[in-house]
Amino acid sequence: MAKFVPVEPFDIVIFGGTGDLSRRKLLPALYHRWVDGQIPENSTIVGTARSDMDDAAYRAVAKEACEKASGKSWDADAWDKFEKILHYVTIDATNPEGDWEGLKSKMTSEEERPRIFYLATSPHLYVDICRALGAVGLSGGLSRVVLEKPIGTDLASAQAINDGVAEVFAERQVFRIDHYLGKETVQNLMVLRFANILFEPLWSQNYIDHVQITVAEDLGLEGRADYYDRSGALRDMVQNHMLQLLCLTAMEPPNDLDDDDIRTEKIKVLKALRPVTEADARRLTVRGQYAAGIHAGQPVKGYVEELSAPKGSKTETFVAIKAEISNWRWTGVPFYLRTGKRMSSRHSDIVIQFKRAPHNLFGEQFGNVNKLVIRLQPDEAVRLYVQIKEPGPGGLRVKSLPLNLSYAESFMLRYPDAYERLLMDVVRGNLSLFMRRDEVEAAWRWVDGLIEAWETSGYEPETYPAGTDGPMASAMLMDRDNRSWWKES
Ligand code: BG6
Repeated sequence: MAKFVPVEPFDIVIFGGTGDLSRRKLLPALYHRWVDGQIPENSTIVGTARSDMDDAAYRAVAKEACEKASGKSWDADAWDKFEKILHYVTIDATNPEGDWEGLKSKMTSEEERPRIFYLATSPHLYVDICRALGAVGLSGGLSRVVLEKPIGTDLASAQAINDGVAEVFAERQVFRIDHYLGKETVQNLMVLRFANILFEPLWSQNYIDHVQITVAEDLGLEGRADYYDRSGALRDMVQNHMLQLLCLTAMEPPNDLDDDDIRTEKIKVLKALRPVTEADARRLTVRGQYAAGIHAGQPVKGYVEELSAPKGSKTETFVAIKAEISNWRWTGVPFYLRTGKRMSSRHSDIVIQFKRAPHNLFGEQFGNVNKLVIRLQPDEAVRLYVQIKEPGPGGLRVKSLPLNLSYAESFMLRYPDAYERLLMDVVRGNLSLFMRRDEVEAAWRWVDGLIEAWETSGYEPETYPAGTDGPMASAMLMDRDNRSWWKES
């Protein structure tokens, strides 16, 4: 059984309290922490949005969302108690004259309890909301603000948001969330690397041939066309989730688990990423956009047809990048990143491909060398592929098989969703799994360079049929290096 240590009582206000993220993730995450007894009864949850609604109506919205997210584990008795701590205040975040006092009055007056403001709105509202909170006297003491991604659309807009937020909140009050850092398997990456003596001596260009990081999704736009068409896969997935996975794989061991130690090591990796230039854009990256195809046996529309007002679009739904980290540990080891929508299946893996043993005793069968595969989702696992002798007489046959640590078999429990863990970390004031300002900006700096390289070289997305693994160019990116994307057989 997992142990859940209750947090201290807290107040949380969710801006965008009726939006998609709140309904799919935030409200169910709080409900599940409540069911597990982690949230004290005298805590307060306040949803805010522009629409007029009272507490009862908000509770009905939240109930539908939590019931849907819980499926079979829905607990009606727990809900009856949980809904009593749920409230709603109508606020237009763009209006400093709005009912900010009304919001304040819903919160407990104790100064010394954590007061969390979760901004699940469009990022262009972040600064206005923070200023209004400051003006009404809600930014002091243990107040904390959580900023959802994306923080801006490029370095300049991210800096403007960070500057505006910093007028009101100190850096240690700002929790920039990347929900990938709350995933069990992503956290396990650090444990795997730094709690075992086995891997670290091999973890460098001395023994690693290359690394692959894939986050493949089989779904399409899911009603987020407006946001996505302005963003694209590079800003939506690479700037944050993919680069965070790369940092955790490549960073030096931190001195301890102190938040700044970990974040300082991650930022060193971001700074060591070699910029992609105009001349390199087509050699080192692939841009794709899905066309009509087949998903789960059914015909599905292409990206452009899925947009709410179909028109031409140059937004990429797939990116592959051969990234290079210019430092002592990693020079010469490519990190191949790949992410896309409407791919053949949903799976996220980090594959560490080791080099061959220096001397070949076993002839051609020696082909498959060691690899460590970290399956982040859906069927979480760690697999270490080793060469073994196939049993039987008559010759020595060598085969590559995995030592297989499956999470489902090893731990028979429901893993908390990433947001559950991260929300409790905000209450505890633990910043380790949140991004520091300089980290977000360093990631944007590299991504901005790549966007510029695409623009100046005129590199437009290449199409791929929905339900496949991206454009041909993606396979060729690997093929040119005599490598291929790993696929579970
Ligand atoms: C979000 C992106 O941050 O992550 C989405 O905006 C993407 O486009 C999602 O679908 C993927 O998250 P997960 O946890 O389902 O892998």
